[in-house]
Amino acid sequence: MWVLNYSVTQKSAADPFERLRSQEFSRLDQQGQVYLDYTGAALYPESLLHSHSAALQSSVLGNPHSNNPASLQSTQSVDAARADVLAFFNADPDEYMVVFTANASNAIKLVAESFPFQSGSSFALTADNHNSVNGIRQFAARAGAHVRYLPLDRGLGVRAVAQQLAQLDTDAPSLFAYPAQSNFSGIRHALSHVETAQRLGYSVLLDAAAYVPTSALNLRETRPDFVAISFYKMFGYPTGIGALIARRSALKRLVRPWFAGGTVDYVSTQSDLYGLSAGEAAFEDGTVNFTSAVAVRSGLAFLSSLGMDRIARYVDELSEELRGALRRLRHPGGGRKVRLYGSPDHDHGGCVAFNVLDQSGRVVPYEHVEQMACDQGISLRRGCFCNPGCAEAAFGFEKAKTEACLNQQTAGAFSPRRLAQCLETHEVGCLRVSVGVANVRSDIYRLIDFLDQL
Ligand SMILES: Cc1ncc(COP(=O)(O)O)c(C=O)c1O
Repeated sequence: MWVLNYSVTQKSAADPFERLRSQEFSRLDQQGQVYLDYTGAALYPESLLHSHSAALQSSVLGNPHSNNPASLQSTQSVDAARADVLAFFNADPDEYMVVFTANASNAIKLVAESFPFQSGSSFALTADNHNSVNGIRQFAARAGAHVRYLPLDRGLGVRAVAQQLAQLDTDAPSLFAYPAQSNFSGIRHALSHVETAQRLGYSVLLDAAAYVPTSALNLRETRPDFVAISFYKMFGYPTGIGALIARRSALKRLVRPWFAGGTVDYVSTQSDLYGLSAGEAAFEDGTVNFTSAVAVRSGLAFLSSLGMDRIARYVDELSEELRGALRRLRHPGGGRKVRLYGSPDHDHGGCVAFNVLDQSGRVVPYEHVEQMACDQGISLRRGCFCNPGCAEAAFGFEKAKTEACLNQQTAGAFSPRRLAQCLETHEVGCLRVSVGVANVRSDIYRLIDFLDQL
C-alpha cells in the first residue's frame, strides 16, 4: 500500500498544513478557489488518487466471495480495509465489526429498518440531527414505538440528556441517536451521552459523519452500539462507500427485513427457508464496493500520517480564528455584520453557521450572499443543511405557525422563500462554513475580506 509521510518537526501547528496544501491541494490555488465546505465533503489529496490507481493497476480484483484468485484478492483487500477501519478507530476486533455501506445514510438505514422497534420501545433523538437520522422515526413509529425529540436550547445545545432519557419507557428494545458533531452548528455533543443512554437501557447510534473527518474517535473509550460514517467526508475520495461500525452484540439484535445476494448462505424457492450469512456479510446487500475499499485503506493512512489529534487541534485553531473574525465584523456605524448560530459556551468543531446582517440589523437573504461568494470562487453552503431541528431552534420558529405554513406548501413546490413569506421572516436558512486539512489561514481571510466588503 502507498505510504504517505507528513511527519512533522516544525513548531507551529500550521506549518505542516501549509506544506500539505502545496503538496496535495495546489489545485485550489491554481484555480483561485477557496473551499469552505468540509462538512459537505472533504477534498481528496492528490496522492490518494495516485495510490489508488497504483494499487488497482498492480492487482487483479474480481467479484469477492469466490475461490478463484481474482476473487480471493478482492476478499483479502476488503477484509484488510475492515481491519484498517477498526484500527483507525482503535476498536477491539472482538467487540466491533465493520459493515461497508454506500454512505452514512445507508449505514443509518440498516439500523433503522432492522432495529426491533415494537410497542413499548422508545426512539429518542436530539432535535439536532441530520434528516438521515430523523428518517428513522418512520420505521420506529410504524412499529408502534414512542418517538421523542430532545429539544435544543437557543444556543443549539441539548440539556439534561440523562433526565430526559430516563423519562421514557425502555422495557422493549429502545434506541437513542445523536450526532457527535452537528452538521449545522458544529457543536460537538458530549460523547459521554453514549454511556449515559446505555446505562438507561438504550442502544445508541452515534452519527459520526461530521465528527470523524477532523476529530479522533476512540472506540475503546466511547462504545456506541452503532457508528455511521461516510469516507468521502473524511478524505474526499472515493464517494459511494461508507460504513456501519457496530458492536457484534448489537448487530446480533438487529432483524433484517429482507435478504439479498451476498447476505445469505442458502435460499429455497420450494419453501420460504433461507439462512443469513454470519457477521457483516448479512448486512452487505449485493456486491460490496471492493475497488473503493482499496482506496479507503490509503485514505485512512493519509489521515493517520497527519495524526487525528493534530488535525483536531489545527482545525479547532482555524475555526476559533474564523469565529473571532466573524464576530468582529462591523458595519460603519458599529453594528454587527454577522449573526452566529450556536452558543460559544459549547464545544465546537470546524463548522460555523451564520447569517449576514444589513445596517439595520435585518438578515440579508442567504442566497444573495452565497451567490456573491460563488462569484468570487468561494465555496460555502447555504440552507438548513438537512438539519431542520437546528434551523427551527436557531431561527426561533414557532411550532403552530410552522406547522400551518408547512401544511400550506403544495407537494413538489416547496421553496424556502415561500416558507419565509408565510412565516414573515427572512431567517429560514443560513450560511455554513466548514474547514479541514486542506485549509490554510488565507482561506479564512479571503472569506472575511469578502464579507467585510459586502
Ligand atoms: C451529520 C451527518 N449525518 C449524516 C449525513 C449523511 O451523509 P451521506 O450523505 O454521506 O449519507 C451527513 C451529510 O452531510 C451529515 O453531515
